[in-house]
Amino acid sequence: MLQRSWPYETDMQQAAIYLAEETAEDWWEVEALYDLCFAPGRSALSSYRLREGVDPIAPLCLTARDAEGILAGAVRNWPVRVGDFPAVLLGPIAVHPTRQGEGVASLLMQACLDFARVHGWDRILLVGDAPYYSRFGFRVLEGVEMPPPTNPERVLGVALTDNAWDGVIGAVAAMRDCN
Ligand SMILES: CC(C)(COP(=O)(O)OP(=O)(O)OC[C@H]1O[C@@H](n2cnc3c(N)ncnc32)[C@H](O)[C@@H]1OP(=O)(O)O)[C@@H](O)C(=O)NCCC(=O)NCCS
Repeated sequence: MLQRSWPYETDMQQAAIYLAEETAEDWWEVEALYDLCFAPGRSALSSYRLREGVDPIAPLCLTARDAEGILAGAVRNWPVRVGDFPAVLLGPIAVHPTRQGEGVASLLMQACLDFARVHGWDRILLVGDAPYYSRFGFRVLEGVEMPPPTNPERVLGVALTDNAWDGVIGAVAAMRDCN
């Protein structure tokens, strides 16, 4: 398991990368990274409807910076419900184009999985490409419906505890009514 002390330094192929919990001062820099990495209008995606008016899960919102402090990547996570069951909605995750292919996203993903376990979450879902996320254990979630329009084949999940997705089906809903 990754250490919980910050900043966390890890061996990367080319340079040290430091993970840290996102702070208020990081917010606009992370937004700018997302604007750079995603198509314009990203906030129109259906997954954003699940995030509106809900605080992200602070310990699972991470920045990845190099030794000079330059932002290489970032991930944010939100709480959602599937039926009566809480889940982590992972993302957005993005890595600066100049740092892609170096394992920065893998580091962020692994940290999210480890820290979600530490904080008592049982299951994570995301909307993304199975060929990429399968390396972290994500599989297509049958019967779990993201707000339309979402391709069901891109609704992926991983269980953090035994059989945590068994019997968990239905529409994904915002956590705002349950905080
Ligand atoms: C997807 C993204 C986060 C990956 O970041 P990264 O730091 O380059 O990822 P890693 O270095 O950990 O992994 C790179 C590997 O993933 C593969 N990969 C990246 N995106 C992929 C995708 N959509 N489908 C399949 N494989 C993918 C790369 O080909 C590379 O393969 P390799 O290990 O065989 O060489 C980054 O490309 C990015 O920010 N993209 C734009 C934003 C985005 O699409 N975010 C994800 C939304 S679902």
